[in-house]
Amino acid sequence: MRDVAVIGVGLTKFGELWDKSFRNLTAEAGSKAIIDSGVSGKDIDAMYIGSMSSGRFIGQEHIGALVADASGFSHIHIPATRVEGACASGGLAVREGFLSIASGMNDVVVVGGIEKMNDISGTSATETLATAADQEWEAFFGVTFPGIYALIATRHMHEYGTTKEQLGQVAVKNHANGAKNPYAQYQREITIDKAINATMVAEPLGLLDCSPVTDGAASIVLCAAEKAKNFTDKPVKIIASGQASDSLALHGRRDICTLDATVHAAKMAYKQANLNPKDIDLAEVHDCFTIAEICAIEDLGFVKKGEGGKAVENMITTIDGEIPINTSGGLKSKGHPVGATGVAQIVEIVQQLRGEADKRQLKDPRIGLAHNVGGSGATSTVHIMEAI
Ligand code: COA
Repeated sequence: MRDVAVIGVGLTKFGELWDKSFRNLTAEAGSKAIIDSGVSGKDIDAMYIGSMSSGRFIGQEHIGALVADASGFSHIHIPATRVEGACASGGLAVREGFLSIASGMNDVVVVGGIEKMNDISGTSATETLATAADQEWEAFFGVTFPGIYALIATRHMHEYGTTKEQLGQVAVKNHANGAKNPYAQYQREITIDKAINATMVAEPLGLLDCSPVTDGAASIVLCAAEKAKNFTDKPVKIIASGQASDSLALHGRRDICTLDATVHAAKMAYKQANLNPKDIDLAEVHDCFTIAEICAIEDLGFVKKGEGGKAVENMITTIDGEIPINTSGGLKSKGHPVGATGVAQIVEIVQQLRGEADKRQLKDPRIGLAHNVGGSGATSTVHIMEAI
């Protein structure tokens, strides 16, 4: 196994991007990352692209080749592979790129993540997202993702006394962070009153407990760590890559308030990095719904099971808190273009570790973690990064 570093990052603005095509977005994020890294086309050995459901969102499959083509690399025949794992497609693409370099097969790899979700109606987008649930046992009966996470929230409230106010505080915090992020879909703060009184989507989750429907792309350039200094003087090492899976449907889980895939992916990552949760300076976690962030901080070991709501209420996850969570604004405020999310999380951690996060910059963070989930927790990835 060889060490792997991130040597370049790039992001498009997230939002409802009517004036940009899928091709435009992928080329924009990819070219930003490539310019940032200092590599040129001839240095790139492979590309891995995370995209959940381009076939349904824009009627286009064969995304690996399309992204290589849109990036101007079709004539140099770089192998380009699309990776799919629902909303964890981006995290999986990062892991595939990481493994291909760690194994010695490749030296320089471009990883992209993209989704263009607003070209179809809201109803169609909801149906498309629901393809990540179990068709036979969940989606067929009409359950949607807000509905699935509402079940988790209701059980969490029942088991641990988590409150609607605590859910709302996750949204308030993430909107406050997103207000400082020029790439975020919603760059506006919200009040706790607005959060808890927002239109109900799936009891107890209201509009402001949900991540939005988003267009956007993200890209990173990975390089064998021993060669990273040939291209950049600010590499960030990926010191661990964990992945795990679980039952597709919620009812198959040991405990619906715990995402065991996250617990196992985190365990794998902490072991590889030889670290424990207390060593992490910041984390981007998968807050597709406010309850998901509460479960994530528990499952990643930042707080004990059941204490996530209290931890948010006690402000330990704010930008000035003990363990800042989702400094980017998270999926809630930055937006959630599903296939791009896992890659965009790495972009935020890298920018923080390089000291380039501008108004959201933390004071000298050293170690950051990115956590990406597919569906209601059937797939999870955890990456840990360190500035070198
Ligand atoms: N957070 C904050 N504001 C939101 C929002 C969100 N999640 N979703 C929409 N809005 C805002 C819009 O900007 C718009 O504001 P405006 O009137 O000032 O322009 C307004 O609410 C209505 O937007 P609209 O697009 O009509 O909302 P909608 O009712 O079609 O969709 C949801 C709202 C919550 C149903 C939709 O965002 C959703 O499905 N989210 C979940 C996505 C998901 O499941 N992802 C996968 C997770 S695993």
